[in-house]
Amino acid sequence: MQALQHLFDKNRKWAETTTKADRDFFTRLSTQQHPEYLWIGCADSRVPANQIVDMLPGEIFVHRNIANVVVHTDLNCLSVIQYAVDVLKIKHIIVCGHYGCNGIRAALEPREHGLIDNWLRHIKDVYRFHQAEIEALPTEQEKINLLCELNVVEQVANVCHTTIVQNAWKSGQSLTVHGWIYGLEDGLLKDLNVCITGLDEICKIHRVK
Ligand code: CO
Repeated sequence: MQALQHLFDKNRKWAETTTKADRDFFTRLSTQQHPEYLWIGCADSRVPANQIVDMLPGEIFVHRNIANVVVHTDLNCLSVIQYAVDVLKIKHIIVCGHYGCNGIRAALEPREHGLIDNWLRHIKDVYRFHQAEIEALPTEQEKINLLCELNVVEQVANVCHTTIVQNAWKSGQSLTVHGWIYGLEDGLLKDLNVCITGLDEICKIHRVK
């Protein structure tokens, strides 16, 4: 018996519908991909990149982890960024967080969660930079949501601090890094207006000559 048969059934139906709408869809995609966007988002099942921006396979290159964190020693994330920028020549990197993120919530809790605490440390660092602003808010929910936004801003900076992105800018490649946040309650994206388009916009200490 085929395990998880219902998923294979759904897959077959999806492939049929897609081919009916566009006969060459899979043949065309099987030979190449030209996505213009790299999405770095949370692994949360409620925040699926393609669906949120209504994009088809082939249109968006995706990396997801708990709480959309970009760490400068994370070979997985860095490899995705390098491939997207150097090989696919994507034009936009979107760091997209979401309100009510459980990774952010866990990072704010003063208790042990197991192995993941090592990952959440990166979010605790973001909290530390903005502790006064966050603690001034009256409710836990507001604190979490502000840290969700501040985390996106921090991760946008982390993307820009990579040598990959800086070298792309130095060679004249057009590349914009965006910070967005998604609302689980209304399905809407909000631009946090932290677009970065070149070396001049990042702080000196991180600029690689
Ligand atoms: Co999340």
